[in-house]
Amino acid sequence: METDQIDNRTLMENPQEIIFAPSLLAGNHAHLAKSAREVIDHGLSWLHVDVMDGHFVPNLTFGPATVAALRDEFPLFLDVHLMLDNPDRFIKPFAEAGADLISVHIEPDYDHRTTLKNIRELGCRNGIVLNPDTPVESVLPLLDAVDLVLVMTVEPGFGGQSFREDTLSKLTDIAAFRTGNDLRFRLEVDGGINVKTAAECRRHGADTFVAGTSFFLSDDKKAFVREILNPGD
Ligand code: DX5
Ligand code: ZN
Repeated sequence: METDQIDNRTLMENPQEIIFAPSLLAGNHAHLAKSAREVIDHGLSWLHVDVMDGHFVPNLTFGPATVAALRDEFPLFLDVHLMLDNPDRFIKPFAEAGADLISVHIEPDYDHRTTLKNIRELGCRNGIVLNPDTPVESVLPLLDAVDLVLVMTVEPGFGGQSFREDTLSKLTDIAAFRTGNDLRFRLEVDGGINVKTAAECRRHGADTFVAGTSFFLSDDKKAFVREILNPGD
């Protein structure tokens, strides 16, 4: 199935537009190209790439070489989620590899504002990420300087976990702060996302949905994509 590709830049700029970014973590690691092709064949233009260091989270995944290879092969918007103790040291290699968006966690100790600024100076969009147990207040001072906020809806590290309902109030708080301060950034959720939890997150203000397991293991991906792009209908 070939469908018209959507303009990635317009998607990023248009907050009314729902974005669905399949997570490559749940793809076929011996055939990553096949998994990326499936994303394109379903008319999608974003691919979420999870980068883990075995320290910040207890797992290892992809590096800059994977991002560079995907960049060479596919016209996808590469949404790179860095789960690293020292993300500031890795933004340049990932930007040079061709990431379109680089998201960094708030929890490790580094200069967050400078790193977010550097990501933009490297020509990428930036995002700040918070874990389920991290208070919303920790990211609020940075929200004038971001293109995206990623609220983790599971503890990061592994796919296939259950959605945490207690993260929904974070979405409400961040969405209210965005409106109250006339800010523009995307509000993304990641972890345990399926058609049902996406609808819940949408009701609480999310506009960008990451899903690995529920997409790649779906028997009817076409219906899944249609439903997740119209959450709650
Ligand atoms: C978890 C990753 C997620 C993961 C989500 O640490 O950040 O992107 O792929 O997987 P699912 O959709 O299976 O919960
Ligand atoms: Zn992720």
